[in-house]
Amino acid sequence: MTKKLFIKTHGCQMNEYDSAKMFDLLEEKEQFELAKTEDEADLLILNTCSIREKAQEKVFHQIGRWRKIKEKKPNLKIAIGGCVASQEGEKIIKRAPAVDIVFGPQTLHKLPELYKEKNKTDINQVDISFPKLEKFSHFPTKATGEPSAFVSIIEGCNKYCSFCVVPKTRGHEVSRTIEDILNEISELADKGTREIHLLGQNVNNFKGTLMGEKSSLAKLIELTAKIDNIERIRYTTSHPHEFKDDLVEVYDRVPELVSHVHLPVQSGSDRILKLMRRRYNIEKYLSLVERIRQIRPEMSFSSDFIVGFPGETKDEFMDTMNVINEVKFDESFSFIYSPRPNTTASDMPDDVSEEEKKERLNILQNRLNQLSFGFSRKKVGSIQSCLVYGQSKRDPGQLQARTICNRVVNFQSSDIDLVGQMINIQINEALPNCLRGSLQN
Ligand code: SAH
Ligand code: F3S
Repeated sequence: MTKKLFIKTHGCQMNEYDSAKMFDLLEEKEQFELAKTEDEADLLILNTCSIREKAQEKVFHQIGRWRKIKEKKPNLKIAIGGCVASQEGEKIIKRAPAVDIVFGPQTLHKLPELYKEKNKTDINQVDISFPKLEKFSHFPTKATGEPSAFVSIIEGCNKYCSFCVVPKTRGHEVSRTIEDILNEISELADKGTREIHLLGQNVNNFKGTLMGEKSSLAKLIELTAKIDNIERIRYTTSHPHEFKDDLVEVYDRVPELVSHVHLPVQSGSDRILKLMRRRYNIEKYLSLVERIRQIRPEMSFSSDFIVGFPGETKDEFMDTMNVINEVKFDESFSFIYSPRPNTTASDMPDDVSEEEKKERLNILQNRLNQLSFGFSRKKVGSIQSCLVYGQSKRDPGQLQARTICNRVVNFQSSDIDLVGQMINIQINEALPNCLRGSLQN
């Protein structure tokens, strides 16, 4: 009988990428199939996120629910991966004995082995070490032709922003070689993938080698664009500090590079940015935005914001609002600061009340939503070149596509052959989270 696997993923796109690789590995090495529900699974995997406290607490709630399934099905195994696993290691099993396996973002390729060992010996398995890039040589080649695919190019982060756990949980920065990445992209393109989404916590610090020589993200983008059938290139996340001139210039030369960039600013106050150890000030950030917009006037910027960083004053919060109004950010993410273990910000004095922080977040999110809806409304009446991603989840009579500035567009069509194609769509209506359009011939 085939074994069934259920994976639940929390957190960022990097985790989504890793989860897909976990399935590929377990399918190849242990002949697992995906389970439709948690109840029919033989192995339950939770790929966790520890970026904020709430994300971490979610893990133990989830294990609690899965423990109940395990009580009725003693052979069921529970494996915990991702950043909480990396941070807590064995402590997860101490707190939640229903867990059998704990593995980290850099040891996920060992999952089939850990699973086998647990079944053979009944000894709990924990491996949260950081073997550099080892996992990539274990991933099976499994391009399935999805229109858009993630490709990890750099793992980990060395920045140590004072609020962030990522350098501790995902390890230090290490770039794959350009040859390795281009091989993966060529295989994806051969199978029908049209859009490549280059991934890393800090992609613009990519230093992968090309024929033994250190190279750059700009070079990788140019080479990716030359691969047959690749029509769109995205990357996430870029850090404003390392956004070098060659990357700005690439927007001039590579039309496949989309007109949208996620460029987290975090705060509009230079004092807070310094306390965050972000290594840029607002003047530098704005001049970068300006330089990119000179090359691509239609460029849309999205960002991450942290409100209520320790000691953030009302005026400093207003500085963030001013930057939002100046850049006119599109669809962005914003969070209340959450103290994380072993980060320097967690020791900083903080006299801002939770209530005040919530109010600031509310003001900021309202403004971001307003701006984002404004962008959507401006698109009404225009014709946009879009990549069709697949069927709309809510209505199978509709297809879902994305514009070059990353807006979701739903349109009436049941022609599945359009999936993976670039088409022109007339935008008819703007809704808060997406656009509605109709196919242009
Ligand atoms: N590498 C990316 C960020 C990865 S974490 C970058 O350079 O910006 C994703 C986002 O989570 C961050 O941009 C930040 O806005 C938010 N975040 C990280 N740590 C946080 C914390 N302790 N509290 C609240 N938000 C946090
Ligand atoms: Fe985190 Fe800063 Fe790196 S936000 S992921 S330490 S760039």
